[in-house]
Amino acid sequence: MASAGILGTGTALPEKVITNFDLEKLVDTSDQWITDRTGIKERRQAAPGETTSSLSVRAAHQALDMAGLKPQDLDLIICSTISPDMPLPSTAALIQRDLGARGCCAFDLAAACSGFLFGMTVADTFIKTAKAKYVLVIGAELLSRYLDYQDRATCVIFGDGVAAGVMGPVVPPSGILAEEMHTEGAYADHLFIPAGGTAKPATCQTVQDREHYIKMRGNELFKVAVRSMEEVSRRVLQEAGVCAEQLDLFIPHQANQRITDAVRDRLGLSPEKVYSNISRIGNTSSASIPICLDECVRSGRIKKGDLILMSAFGAGVTWGAVLMRW
Ligand code: UT7
Repeated sequence: MASAGILGTGTALPEKVITNFDLEKLVDTSDQWITDRTGIKERRQAAPGETTSSLSVRAAHQALDMAGLKPQDLDLIICSTISPDMPLPSTAALIQRDLGARGCCAFDLAAACSGFLFGMTVADTFIKTAKAKYVLVIGAELLSRYLDYQDRATCVIFGDGVAAGVMGPVVPPSGILAEEMHTEGAYADHLFIPAGGTAKPATCQTVQDREHYIKMRGNELFKVAVRSMEEVSRRVLQEAGVCAEQLDLFIPHQANQRITDAVRDRLGLSPEKVYSNISRIGNTSSASIPICLDECVRSGRIKKGDLILMSAFGAGVTWGAVLMRW
């Protein structure tokens, strides 16, 4: 059976930077509070007219170029997003159209911040079973379109960004070594958007009540995030028969620097082995891990043969991990 790996990566970030000082002018917060409690200094915000699919197409072209492939080579496009262009059709279908990847299958995957790792896991199964050769996995979020800039608990955390990975068959020992996906719907109300769906269709009242924006019970989520990311990381390491000290790099979902630090401590990893870009990019949900991956690949931080662990946690709640040899 073939092993599945990442052949190319790409990123598309909006140009506009929103600093903590910009947010100080909108809500009762401070650069000091945001920096101390989250590690975030700035995040990106999409311009009017920019969409989840348009940024995805930019990231996809970069990833395909690195992989030496053309859009027509793709068998499947998986777009992980909770901030789609529109409810219907899928953002993946729009990406397929604008990329010119005619004939390939394309669908969206909604697992919030764990979505890119869920997408990698689905792609791995397709590639290993020879149902697809080349799969484009995208983590794409324009969360600014769903943020309440009157709610200091959420608007300081999240940012916009998109990144993509082209996956395909690789020669062992490269490729995915172990992976896990989990969901626990009992915590669904910890991070959600109340209105705009079938449970509460859009009305003037729902808009007036600001129910189309993200609501988050951050403090409760924090604890579940640390526990689940640690546990799932340990399990994939165990499944592959390796220990944390053997890792070359750990890329956690960039939820909050304090979550990253707590998981790192629990896994016993030194700070140099843990990647973080949250100060510059903020929390971009499903785009956070692939943006990190792309930065690491392009800067040479990831080298062939490196053992890399990624783990994530998000709304649902969902959590998962992927362990791979580059
Ligand atoms: O992406 C995956 C899913 N999301 C997460 O995993 C997010 C996880 N949670 C977090 O990152 C953190 O819980 C937050 C950064 C969201 C909040 O930090 P916290 O340390 O858990 O703060 P808290 O919610 O316990 O609030 C502490 C205080 C409260 O004031 P009082 O009640 O003590 O007077 C909040 O109202 O901090 C206040 N607060 C703020 N103050 C200034 C909350 N947000 C802000 C803010 N600026 N932006």
